[in-house]
Amino acid sequence: MNPKENELHNLEEYYTEAFRPQFHFSPHAYWMNDPNGMVYFEGEYHLFYQYHPFDIIWGPMHWGHAVSHDLIHWEHLPTALFPDKNGMIFSGSAVVDHHDSSGFFKGGSGLVAIFTHADQYPGSGRPRQRQSIAFSVDRGRTWHMYEGNPVLSDEKYLDFRDPKVFWHEETNKWIMILAAGDHVRLYTSSNLKSWEFASSFGVDAGSHKGVWECPDLFKLPVAHSHDDKWVMIVSIGEDPAYPEGSRTQYFIGDFDGSTFRNENPNETVLWLDYGRDNYAGVTWSDLPAEDGRRIFIGWMSNWKYANNTPTNRWRSAMTLPRELKLKNTTKGVRLIQTPVAELSHLREEEMKLNDVIIHQSPDPIFSEINGKSFEIIAEFELDSASAFGFSLRKSKNEKTVIGYDVGKQELFIDRINSGDTSFNPYFPCKHTATLKPKQSRIKLHIFVDWSSVEVFANNGELAMTDLIFPNDTSEGLEVFALDGNVTLVSLQFYPLKSSWR
Ligand code: FRU
Repeated sequence: MNPKENELHNLEEYYTEAFRPQFHFSPHAYWMNDPNGMVYFEGEYHLFYQYHPFDIIWGPMHWGHAVSHDLIHWEHLPTALFPDKNGMIFSGSAVVDHHDSSGFFKGGSGLVAIFTHADQYPGSGRPRQRQSIAFSVDRGRTWHMYEGNPVLSDEKYLDFRDPKVFWHEETNKWIMILAAGDHVRLYTSSNLKSWEFASSFGVDAGSHKGVWECPDLFKLPVAHSHDDKWVMIVSIGEDPAYPEGSRTQYFIGDFDGSTFRNENPNETVLWLDYGRDNYAGVTWSDLPAEDGRRIFIGWMSNWKYANNTPTNRWRSAMTLPRELKLKNTTKGVRLIQTPVAELSHLREEEMKLNDVIIHQSPDPIFSEINGKSFEIIAEFELDSASAFGFSLRKSKNEKTVIGYDVGKQELFIDRINSGDTSFNPYFPCKHTATLKPKQSRIKLHIFVDWSSVEVFANNGELAMTDLIFPNDTSEGLEVFALDGNVTLVSLQFYPLKSSWR
């Protein structure tokens, strides 16, 4: 963190560099990847992150740190964890040790971080990944490495990382889930220091189009039922063979404190997000029971081009924080994702429309609405149009299109002409996801920032997150209908304030 940080906060220019996200988290300077150690403690949401504090490309990993009271406005804090004799600090989690099971807190409570130490086996140069812990007695401001580190290692696995730890009420134990190449492994502990192997999952389940990374495991109620289900999130790394690059899948099932049982056939692959830029995401730990939410945040980039995106001084941002829920669908229980309600505090004056028939492309009703940072809530009723949607961040030569193809029943984002796409041949692309209309209607909840778009369709049934790098002057917004009409049943448009100034 720059020592002038607090002064800078007051300046009009703070966070106004080209492509700087206005209401997403991004580091003050330098490189960031995965979100880490998200935990709520004594009124603060903590967000740690994979951080290289000396350059804007990936390098020796530290944990950067920020705190927030509302998940929207963040205060940067000094770097929390530094590489030491056991290696770099890779991804991991943090928990509140409420009853001092670790013995670090003299009978009180405090924060324990559980992460991967990454170095090399002495002599051979073979990568070594082991799990370690650190603790903080001052609300995460300073951290002490446990002298008994590492607390878990296994020479069999080259990839052995990204521990996510949670307290399992029913068995009175800490559970750790970590990624081991082509599967996840589960361990249990009573004190966070010694860990026993419990089970493994996934060698033959889900997608294996990349190395498994950054797992998470948590229980959620299924809406409108008396059921709970367990959700396992698993990110899969970049493989040059696939244009999608790195992405995130999830499993639904049961967990008894030792073993996870997938309730879907092994071949079923469930994607958390159908865009290209939502990776390594996990959920907050220790949200108060009165709150009751399960909140997720992901790294809004893709290992295919993360090191090459056209920003200076800083690189990468997180997705919006999203609430996760479970819902019964005709295909089974599925995750629902909605942006956290706190985001509504950023709204400026609302512009509303109701029951407008869109029959031209572009329709002139939109001539007065434009912007670079805004939110749209729209409901369309299908009619004769073969496709409809929005073109945004538009200028003569640039546009990003969020649309619905009626015949194919597909939602799409087309960022082929979105702006600067030159840094990687896979970046300019159009991608799609199946989305069925509900009573002939499609609902889109869209967030546009200076370098991203996020779409939540049909009340969070489907999410699509994409980076874009448009010119600063590309501010046009249009609604379109192709080959016929569509009814815009309702539209709410809100310019969004910056959360950084
Ligand atoms: C995922 C990841 C993790 C690892 C970290 C290193 O993006 O590869 O598996 O811990 O990044 O920065």
